[in-house]
Amino acid sequence: MTQEMIYLDNAATSWPKPDCVTEAITDAITHCGGNPGRGGHRLALAAGELLYEARERTAAFFGSEDPFRVSYTLNITMALNLVLKGYLSPADHVLISPMEHNAVMRPLTAMGIPYSILPSDENGRINLSEIQSKIRSNTKLIIICHESNVNGIIQPIREIGRIAHENNIALLTDCAQSAGHTTINIESDNIDFLCFTGHKGLLGPTGTGGVIFGSRVDVEQIHPLLRGGTGSLSESFDQPGFLPDRFESGTQNICGLAGLNAGLKWIESQGLENLSRTGQALISQLRSGLGTIPGIHVYSGEGQVLSITIDNLDNGTAAAELEERWGIMTRIGLHCAPLAHKTLGTFPNGTIRFAVSPFTTKQDIETCIKACKTLAEESWIKK
Ligand SMILES: Cc1ncc(COP(=O)(O)O)c(C=O)c1O
Repeated sequence: MTQEMIYLDNAATSWPKPDCVTEAITDAITHCGGNPGRGGHRLALAAGELLYEARERTAAFFGSEDPFRVSYTLNITMALNLVLKGYLSPADHVLISPMEHNAVMRPLTAMGIPYSILPSDENGRINLSEIQSKIRSNTKLIIICHESNVNGIIQPIREIGRIAHENNIALLTDCAQSAGHTTINIESDNIDFLCFTGHKGLLGPTGTGGVIFGSRVDVEQIHPLLRGGTGSLSESFDQPGFLPDRFESGTQNICGLAGLNAGLKWIESQGLENLSRTGQALISQLRSGLGTIPGIHVYSGEGQVLSITIDNLDNGTAAAELEERWGIMTRIGLHCAPLAHKTLGTFPNGTIRFAVSPFTTKQDIETCIKACKTLAEESWIKK
């Protein structure tokens, strides 16, 4: 008997992808196989057109009017590194949310940038009224993980951005989880650096992501992370200063971006608000189902990610049992976000994490609740 697969690891990467994503990747390899900006023949032009279409769609999806203010990278980790390394120096101070991922914590630590963690409640929700008192004369950037990849809490970025701008500080948002889950508008949400990854809620393939620069940002103040060939100004050993070439050296991931473009198109066709409602309904089904089971502790916010711990049961054993007995795929541990677990009190063991996608069904959630209930009861009996 083939066991059914229930994929609830969408916060790591979404699966499955819409069919149109696979088709777009195949189509790009087949028909747009040239190198964009590197030649005048039809295959290079076709690749260039595809890249521009993806850029236009990405900009519009996040409310940016200028497609050239989108700089593609291989993932959000690279996008975050681009901003942190290009914009900050150890003389600066930054404020961070208490839910940051190591994609932020490790570069900040390696660069020796002093940071303060914004005060929050026990779920990691930032107390807006306490931001002002944390600002120092050299605070240059506020960094916010928009939707936590541990408990799905969504931070009020618009209000945080307003406070940042009133104090002449820039706002960087890590939208790894929130992109594709909730509407984000770089301008009305007061974002200066919007970092995203393509392979989670945006339903694109791995190897895609980027940063979008808000209209207030002077990109000349940001040093490129990489320097190299752009197909432009090739007579010079200096990196071109204009966008997108300033931050996009080397051949772009055209097939991946074709897939991302198709993922965004699919989201548009379904309606982001509809997808958002459905995802939240599934998480609330999961939250209420798990919340009443003795021995299970739920960590949850308004996003599409939720974590639990089960008393007397090691997370690794729980994940192995969930997959072996019910086909449920999940992720356990610290989810590369030890700071978030310190905030939630789940450090160092971490949690068992479930994350839904547009392809998750109510039946999947029902099975997941029953499976967790069985594990909680069995661990109680064993004790
Ligand atoms: C909040 C957050 N930031 C950053 C990342 C890093 O994403 P990527 O591996 O696509 O760079 C993730 C994904 O694990 C995440 O959830």
